[in-house]
Amino acid sequence: MKIVKTVSEVRQQVKEWKRAGLSVGLVPTMGFLHEGHKSLIERAAAENDKVVVSDFVNPTQFGAGEDLDSYPRDIERDAIICQDAGADLIFHPEADEMYKKGACTMVDMTGEITSELCGKTRPIHFRGVCTVVSKLFNIVCPDRAYFGQKDAQQLAVIKRMVCDLNFDIEIIGCPIIREEDGLAKSSRNTYLSDEERQAALVLSKAVILGKSMAESGEKDACKIVNEMKQLIEKEPMAKIDYVKAVNAETISPISEMNGSVLVAMAVYIGKTRLIDNFIYEC
Ligand code: PAJ
Repeated sequence: MKIVKTVSEVRQQVKEWKRAGLSVGLVPTMGFLHEGHKSLIERAAAENDKVVVSDFVNPTQFGAGEDLDSYPRDIERDAIICQDAGADLIFHPEADEMYKKGACTMVDMTGEITSELCGKTRPIHFRGVCTVVSKLFNIVCPDRAYFGQKDAQQLAVIKRMVCDLNFDIEIIGCPIIREEDGLAKSSRNTYLSDEERQAALVLSKAVILGKSMAESGEKDACKIVNEMKQLIEKEPMAKIDYVKAVNAETISPISEMNGSVLVAMAVYIGKTRLIDNFIYEC
């Protein structure tokens, strides 16, 4: 497995693979890899001849005052995880390789799909995500790209972007990987103190509660969301950003459990903002 830092090295390697008739899977990440990322890489390795993992903390998707500088980084450890999971190439560029001096083109998606849920508190986030993911798609030209359901809105946004901009890439959504006690794995979990780590379990508990209400036939999405909110509010260290039921594809708010429903939340535990969700098909 190689680690490269430039766009031209990636292009050269991928061209070689394509000439040999090999398929290529891409797993975009911001590094500090865990079992969630690993599951995406393993799936990509099972479904493609070659796998590229991008490992880049993308500055354009962080707002002012967010955790760009403190975001955890460890490329040596990431390389071991990638190798174990079956990756063939890690693309680990510096910011000035991805964004050349004078760069001024962004991919900006409008409407509820980016303004709802995380878009409300992070207004420039999805513009940064769409821009960097488009660039990675153009650099790697993969046959398939893998994204986690953990970031359900991001997955919906990427699927919409691929459709709107005619990228010839299959987008594969992968299930949420959790710690044994239920907490969704996240690079940001490293910010939590022991006490906060315990308090953070309230997110997955709310997911279990909401899911069981949906499975017992509750059709009123507001009722499900309200019960989840009440449960979270009982935890003194938790502060709700949002808990909302939306259409899983369009991210439009819904009030009745109908079709493919995404029930998503963002909750601050101390200063750390964590997300979790479930999808219910009815
Ligand atoms: P990052 O947070 O590193 O996540 C990379 C990929 O791993 C995303 O598709 C995310 O949904 C997935 N992932 C993270 N935690 C997961 C878990 N517990 N279970 C399953 N999948 C999980 O998402 C980003 O980076 C960036 O926004 C990126 C797409 C790379 C653009 O910069």
